[in-house]
Amino acid sequence: MGRKTILLLLVGIFTAYYGYTPLPDNIEEPWKLIGLTFILNTISNVALVGEVLGINHYMNTMNFFMSFPKVPPTSDETVTVMDTTFSNVPVRVYVPKRKSEALRRGLFYIHGGGFCLGSAAQYSYDVLSRRTANRLDAVVISTKCVSNGNQRMRIEKVSLGMTRKETERNELESYRLAPKYHFPNQFEDVYNALKWFLRKDILKGYGVDPKRIGISGDSAGGNLAAAVTQQLIDDPDVKIKLKIQSLIYPAVQTLDMDLPSLRENSQIPPLPKSLMVRFWSEYFTTDRSLEKAMFINQHVPVESSYLFKFVNWSSLLPENFKKGHFYNSPIHGPSELARKYPGFLDVRAAPLLADDNKLRNLPLTYVITCQYDVLRDDGIMYVTRLRNAGVRVTHNHVEGGFHGLISIPGFKIGLKVENQYLSWLSENL
Ligand SMILES: *[C@@H]1O[C@H](CO)[C@@H](O)[C@H](O)[C@H]1NC(C)=O
Repeated sequence: MGRKTILLLLVGIFTAYYGYTPLPDNIEEPWKLIGLTFILNTISNVALVGEVLGINHYMNTMNFFMSFPKVPPTSDETVTVMDTTFSNVPVRVYVPKRKSEALRRGLFYIHGGGFCLGSAAQYSYDVLSRRTANRLDAVVISTKCVSNGNQRMRIEKVSLGMTRKETERNELESYRLAPKYHFPNQFEDVYNALKWFLRKDILKGYGVDPKRIGISGDSAGGNLAAAVTQQLIDDPDVKIKLKIQSLIYPAVQTLDMDLPSLRENSQIPPLPKSLMVRFWSEYFTTDRSLEKAMFINQHVPVESSYLFKFVNWSSLLPENFKKGHFYNSPIHGPSELARKYPGFLDVRAAPLLADDNKLRNLPLTYVITCQYDVLRDDGIMYVTRLRNAGVRVTHNHVEGGFHGLISIPGFKIGLKVENQYLSWLSENL
């Protein structure tokens, strides 16, 4: 056998090993998803090996690879694009070029990435923001964030040809991410940037109508959007309120890691349960003991059991999503975890924990959930709780859809859902 044959064989085994993902029959565009999974798994395995060998934190390696499809702020024929900071938080701003007599709508967007990864400068988010600005003739503020890589990552980047200055700038252009920063830093960065945007003089400067401002975000960005929208309601400093919130497959609760959607989709790419639990725990700490406890759903101490009523899927999910599942009463974890990392019981991290008095005052809401997504039931339960509290909600549940479909380029289903999302914004913002 020649060398090439052996190499091919290895590649084949490799591909089969990584590429085999048993997917449900009706999931959209399964072959593309398998291809994507292959790439993600390869990166993830490299990151895991790096972590086991003590070279680099898992999330730093992930971020390193994921920061490649980043694009600079480039204006085009229709939109002016610029990077700036709002209250020291880096944001990318998209302002339509066409002349407008009236004030424009404004949309504040928060990207996903599990509180650890992602950036507004990522190709897919950049494209989404341009489309949003064009379609709605709106000013779009997209909160940026890039790697927060540790010292070692910085050296690697430098050795890969980036100048030290570039690397340092990249590290600064972000709402602060885990594993270097934990809750409530991410929340506070987003909140401070939003408050800055809602200042009268800033809105005036961008020509934005204070009565037509919305917030939106996907996944962890959906979590942050929901959380800051709640916070804003009671903030005496902010006079201008949001007209709508739009949450794209948001994560909204940290208490129950045994929801039907987590059971059914625990292996479904690109967000298996293990990765979601890791993202959650990294939001609060790099200590892996929280992750371990969360994974087996024994992290909430008995003193906090009163909170379970807010996340009780047995009462909050419609019948068709509960089919075939039995509700297990929570098994309590040690008080020590909650004492050390109180963030995971904080409503600013888990907006589903807000009581009805708080929820009642939320603005008109749009929620996207996907059938094959561990976060499906988070979104659905939030819809139920908001509706029970009297908030008007449009729920777009995507059958056959999977997590991340809006921000992963190349999927027809992603474009379709994006289109529905933009139509809703167009009609309601
Ligand atoms: C959850 O709701 C069910 C009823 O739907 C109830 O029997 C159960 O006690 C509740 N559990 C908690 C922890 O609230």
